[in-house]
Amino acid sequence: MKTFSRVTDLGDLHQALQEAIEIKNDRFKYVELGRNKTLLMVFFNSSLRTRLSTQKAAMNLGMNVIVLDVNQGAWKLETERGVVMDGDKSEHLLEAIPVMGCYCDIIGIRSFAGLKDRNYDYAETVYNQFVQYSGRPVFAMETATVHPLQAFADLITIEEHKEVKRPKVVLTWAPHPKALPQAVPDSFAEWMNVADVDLVVTHPHGYELDPSFVGDAAVEYDQRKALEGADFVYAKNWSCPGVTNPADYGLVLSKDMSWTIDAEHMLWTNNAQFMHCLPVRRNMIVSDDVIESSRSLVIPEAANREISATVVLKRMLEAIR
Ligand code: CP
Repeated sequence: MKTFSRVTDLGDLHQALQEAIEIKNDRFKYVELGRNKTLLMVFFNSSLRTRLSTQKAAMNLGMNVIVLDVNQGAWKLETERGVVMDGDKSEHLLEAIPVMGCYCDIIGIRSFAGLKDRNYDYAETVYNQFVQYSGRPVFAMETATVHPLQAFADLITIEEHKEVKRPKVVLTWAPHPKALPQAVPDSFAEWMNVADVDLVVTHPHGYELDPSFVGDAAVEYDQRKALEGADFVYAKNWSCPGVTNPADYGLVLSKDMSWTIDAEHMLWTNNAQFMHCLPVRRNMIVSDDVIESSRSLVIPEAANREISATVVLKRMLEAIR
């Protein structure tokens, strides 16, 4: 596997889940695979889980790790081609990327959507420049429109905790004070569409996700109806994807607190288990009692980030050995 951003990059999902189980049972089984290989993790944006879990995954595989925080100590990077670089950015990504490729064997990229230009974000311009110019396998650690390591970890978590063969999974929008990217809900919807679940997506009007991710999933604008019978509730905020009105791309269209997942919302479900990728704004997205309840899976999800990252890095190491 030379790139990892979409669910199709993994091939057979059942096989990938089997590998995840194998690694969870013995996470150092492939510790020789990464000997003398170096992972470079490039962060244009902050992280807690991705930084720690991906580094731990590389250590499971015996790799060396270099972490570059682009905005702390590196030259400020220009990312758009054709710009006259007379501002505060000293280096262009188009030189920086091949230089980075000289020092490593695999590259992970975190680069959030700017939420200003839908075409630029949805073209995955930064991620694709790394794919094109680094000469190395590249994987997304949350890029403009996708967060596949999170979605894979979420799928592993659902497989581990499901109480019926084909659970009903509800992805629900919830309020947030700031404009957030669509990467997590995009990938979650994409992966759930391939998984053995029934996916329902619920959000206020105007928050329709890009069709390339939401696919044929049921969309229900009445949150209560959507939550009825749910086995898993996956809450997440996202800004306007600009599908129905491109001019609204990246805007906060609603802060309706009636969408916050609290104990009453959970009563509408089939005693659902609660999920969120973290970090989460308590009492905006979810009430204290729901996230602290015995039906909350937020910590197992985070723990499975190590497993999803180990599978992905293992596949990439196998491709270059
Ligand atoms: N869920 C997730 O990716 O967390 P971080 O932003 O802390 O990496």
